[in-house]
Amino acid sequence: MSVLSIVKYPDKVLRDKTVPVGNIDGGLQKLIDDMIETMYAAPGVGLAANQVGISQQLAVIDVGIRDEKSRLIVLVNPEIVHLEGEIESEEGCLSIPDYTTVLKRAMKVLVKGYDREGGPVEIEAEGLLARALQHEIDHLNGILFVDRMGRIKREFFKKRYSRTIE
Ligand code: NI
Repeated sequence: MSVLSIVKYPDKVLRDKTVPVGNIDGGLQKLIDDMIETMYAAPGVGLAANQVGISQQLAVIDVGIRDEKSRLIVLVNPEIVHLEGEIESEEGCLSIPDYTTVLKRAMKVLVKGYDREGGPVEIEAEGLLARALQHEIDHLNGILFVDRMGRIKREFFKKRYSRTIE
C-alpha cells in the first residue's frame, strides 16, 4: 500500500462530478487500499477518490478516532437516500488544510451504495458518521464544505484562504 498525495483546494478536479465505478477489479482494490492508507496517514476521518485525483464515485471513511463504535467503511457509488433533522458541528477537510468552520448539516442520513466486493450496503447513521458521509458524498458531487457556508463567510474564506496558499 502507498500513501497518495492529496489534491488541495482550489484544484479543479475537486469540482468535477465523479463518474460511477463500472468495474470492481484489481486496480480498484489497489486504489481502495491506497486511499485507506492515505486517510490514516493524514490523518483524516474520510477521503473521496477525487481528493487523490481519481474522478470516480468511491470514498473511504473511518470516524473511529472520535467514535470507537465506528469502523472502516468503503463506499462505491454511494448516494444519500434520506436526510433527517439538522445539527451544527465543526468541520474540516484534508483538501483545505488549516481551516475549519461550524456547519449545519442533517443529523441523520440513510446512504445506499456498494462495498469493495460489489455487495449492496445500506448505512443508517447519525453523529460524526452522518456528517462524514454527507461530506464525502458532497466531494463526489464536486461540492466542498466551504460551499455550504453562508455567502459572507464564503467570500471571506475565498479572499483570506487563497492569499495563504498563493
Ligand atoms: Ni473533505
